[in-house]
Amino acid sequence: MNVTVFGTGYVGLVTGTCLAEMGNAVVCVDVDAGKIERLGRGEIPIYEPGLEELVLANHAAGRLAFTTEAAPAIAHGDVIFIAVGTPPGEDGSADLTHVLAVARTIGQHLGAGSIIVNKSTVPVGTADRVRATIADVLAGRGIAIDFDVVSNPEFLKEGDAVNDCMRPDRIVIGSDSAKAITVLRRLYAPFNRNHDRIVLMDVRSAELTKYAANAMLATKISFMNEMANIAERVGADIEQVRHGIGSDPRIGYHFIYPGAGYGGSCFPKDVQALHRIARAGGYEASLLQAVEQVNEAQKSRLFELICQHFGNDLGGRTIAVWGLAFKPNTDDMREAPSRRLLEQLWQAGARVQAFDPEAREEARQIFGERADLVLCEQAQQALQDADALVVVTEWKAFRSPDFKVLATRLKSAVIFDGRNIYDPLAVEAAGIAYYGIGRGRSVARVQAG
Ligand code: UDX
Repeated sequence: MNVTVFGTGYVGLVTGTCLAEMGNAVVCVDVDAGKIERLGRGEIPIYEPGLEELVLANHAAGRLAFTTEAAPAIAHGDVIFIAVGTPPGEDGSADLTHVLAVARTIGQHLGAGSIIVNKSTVPVGTADRVRATIADVLAGRGIAIDFDVVSNPEFLKEGDAVNDCMRPDRIVIGSDSAKAITVLRRLYAPFNRNHDRIVLMDVRSAELTKYAANAMLATKISFMNEMANIAERVGADIEQVRHGIGSDPRIGYHFIYPGAGYGGSCFPKDVQALHRIARAGGYEASLLQAVEQVNEAQKSRLFELICQHFGNDLGGRTIAVWGLAFKPNTDDMREAPSRRLLEQLWQAGARVQAFDPEAREEARQIFGERADLVLCEQAQQALQDADALVVVTEWKAFRSPDFKVLATRLKSAVIFDGRNIYDPLAVEAAGIAYYGIGRGRSVARVQAG
């Protein structure tokens, strides 16, 4: 099938590439000429495991093309995906400028019937606006063309995006058009083997499904962070509590890890946007507001622990930070808890020696050159003469350091484990003080016992 994808960000590039891998002829369009040129040369703008190989192979096979030219791309597509960004506007609601600009472009160049598929995360009702925008432009051109607008939200996770796209656990299709459903069933058939993963629904329900999924996941995290804060105060260890509740299949083990707060391009933006959507509909979503508030507070938790340990005296201290990306296996630092921590440490007069396996360049772009930041090439280098080690992102490479060696490198032996990846007893056995998230005095009691 001939497929066109507008937007070469995470969602667009991964979707286009996976559709090409399944044998479709895919044209990816972006207004950013520099990005299109780099993609054409085989340079991938994001770090995403497995993506580069797939882009190169499909590009070489002639199934995946990159262009800034909308007109021929629109003529090419039996199916046209809109996968452009919907950044938060001033008030937290999703900014639809890019989505509606693509809709206008489609209206200007559409010459025959086509199926327009919205993959971007957009407020409920956007498909109707896209449809109206295209229809308006077509009317201005004085022509009538039969087209459908479908909602088909994407659920991919950064760091595992190719896998999520190739082996989706569901394919949500929101449409009232039998023709569009038939075409999309055919397009998704290779991704839909063994058992049927397609979930058909109306357009607005599909749009809300995406927000509901992300808001539910964000809620689980904020709930666990709240439990962690309670655990700390009552002398319990949240890690034991996590095991205790996760074994109930109604709760499950997934996505109940307390930590330094959720970040990334989706959860913070989508929880806020859903809150706005609810308010616009006359409903005050107090749970969503609480989810956001708990997360905001959680992003300061590591800093609070550090201040507490050093008696609020951080001036002139050097803090080693392991992990800058908002989660492992990505170089993405959007809304990353590390950003809040670094700003707070600098404000308090501390220097930072940071290491991240992939996000160094991203950090350089965000923070620029500054005297109080050293971006290290090696994890060990960050430790040299530091007053503390703070783990903010749980990269695999950080999971089992030699604590004895670590103790000799640090000037003062203390670890702040923002992801609870270490066994407090093993750390303390090496003579290092340990702070985790929600790991109350029960740890000390087990040790004493
Ligand atoms: C998320 C959704 O998982 C995905 O389905 C959707 O399409 C886009 O948003 P992503 O933003 O890539 O994907 O990251 P995810 O793996 O979901 O993690 C989000 C944040 O939550 C990270 O900062 C992570 O560290 C944090 N998190 C996750 C926790 O703090 N605890 C957990 O138990 C799980």
